[in-house]
Amino acid sequence: MNPASIGVFDSGLGGLSVLREIRALLPHESLLYLADSKYAPYGEKPETFVEARTLQACEWLLGQGCKALVIACNTATMHAVQTLRERLPVPIIGVEPGLKPAAAASRSKVVGVLATANTLKSAKFGRLLSSLAGESRFICEAGLGLVSLIEQGDLDGPAVRERLDAYLTPMLEAGADTLVLGCTHYPFLSGTIREMVGDQLALVDTGSAIARQLARKLAEHGLCADAGALPRDRFVSTKDAAHLHAMAAALLRVDADAETAVIEPAPAF
Ligand code: DGL
Repeated sequence: MNPASIGVFDSGLGGLSVLREIRALLPHESLLYLADSKYAPYGEKPETFVEARTLQACEWLLGQGCKALVIACNTATMHAVQTLRERLPVPIIGVEPGLKPAAAASRSKVVGVLATANTLKSAKFGRLLSSLAGESRFICEAGLGLVSLIEQGDLDGPAVRERLDAYLTPMLEAGADTLVLGCTHYPFLSGTIREMVGDQLALVDTGSAIARQLARKLAEHGLCADAGALPRDRFVSTKDAAHLHAMAAALLRVDADAETAVIEPAPAF
């Protein structure tokens, strides 16, 4: 039994969509959420920055005593998970766009994928796409601008709707019946997407699969918290604790104990 926290990392608020699934599945585990909102969005930053910054953030989480890390960010996973696994001495659970479940679920065998520009251009995503090429046609769109709007708390305003319309229309025109939410920020747009496209697109989000994978890894490494443990969660932002507190309340309905941390990038950046 191990009472230490599980570190959950994202470039910003998106990882909260993964955290809510972890909280539901593992009620006795303490969670330490780190939102690097000062440097979001990662999806439109140089890839070398994403890798170095993710490593730095995860080292900070280990410094806080975390027993395992969830990289609740597709972009960071795509560009840094291999380095993290080579360098850090704890189990690391990454996320990737749910192309496989989407291809299996699609009837039209045309699947839309909405993810960040950096996720779509990563070698890891390229390999995933090629491995499933025979199973479905994937129409990929970079959700430019969406992460910044969500970070500001805009989930359904005109700017969000205009962008979603531009990204989803080509998918619908190509016959897509399934949409992969390939960025952990996007599940917070599910309601707006549903309003806009009705049931034309089934939405695929991997948050609950990640929580199950985390549970398996904790058990495998003997790291589970005691079944009677009372969890103590911490929510940390590199930008603004009050905003993180407000967004956690709005998105997850939790009264989060939020703090601001100063984690400055190495001088090269
Ligand atoms: N939540 C991150 C992801 O899953 C967003 C990346 C960003 O900051 O652009 O990709």
